[in-house]
Amino acid sequence: MVQFTLPRNSKVKRGKTWPKAKAAEGKTPRYKTFRIYRWSPEEGENPHLDSYTIDMNTCGPMVLDALIKIKNEIDPTLTFRRSCREGICGSCAMNIDGTNTLACTKASEDVKGEVAIHPLPHMPVIKDLVPDLTQFYRQYASIQPFLQASGPDPEKERLQTPDDRAKLDGLYECILCASCSTSCPSYWWNGDKYLGPAALLQAYRWLADSRDEATGERLDNLEDPFRLYRCHTIMNCANVCPKGLNPAKAIAEVKKMVATRKA
Ligand code: SF4
Ligand code: FES
Repeated sequence: MVQFTLPRNSKVKRGKTWPKAKAAEGKTPRYKTFRIYRWSPEEGENPHLDSYTIDMNTCGPMVLDALIKIKNEIDPTLTFRRSCREGICGSCAMNIDGTNTLACTKASEDVKGEVAIHPLPHMPVIKDLVPDLTQFYRQYASIQPFLQASGPDPEKERLQTPDDRAKLDGLYECILCASCSTSCPSYWWNGDKYLGPAALLQAYRWLADSRDEATGERLDNLEDPFRLYRCHTIMNCANVCPKGLNPAKAIAEVKKMVATRKA
């Protein structure tokens, strides 16, 4: 009989229910419960889901507001990343109510019932809601995300026609939050070899740039059964991207460029 052994830390237990935070005075409380994944390398135990209940009259509207309130007023050990709190830095990406998104742009009231919050899926966890993105950033670096042009630098900026500039729309807006890559089953199973939707969207951002002259080398670097072709157009990436981008379309464009140069 085949023995199936769960990987370490994959069994999530029910955790502590924390006492309700103080309600607002003179108002009917609007309690909401947040069920949050907790894991600390120091504890040496399996992860657990802790429940925190707060009065939404005393809290800002976004899930990030609730996390900050919980950390400030109930449990200072709760750990998560955040910076800009307006959907620009990408650091607060996490799985909320079963979907990868940004905690700072997701309204708590948009989730019916309890708000379940987990770290981005299938990534090693450093602590609580903080995933280890080392591999993700290494893959981003591997696509050489900078302009490559021969010849001396121009005295002013490198010009581009408005039409050529428009080709970068839908690409340059990526904030590298990793929501797309960590929602992709191909990336879950082959994340060490497949570059994933975020890195490939960024790769196409430079391939599509009329000022870049490294197209051949960039395509050589991508043409590989795993790095590029593990995209099976599952489309989770486009469904979850909090910036409304479509990495699957960008990947299809890269595949088209590889095929066209061979023809
Ligand atoms: S494509 Fe969208 S989901 Fe993916 S990293 Fe960029 S902003 Fe995040
Ligand atoms: S805190 Fe910067 S995107 Fe959410």
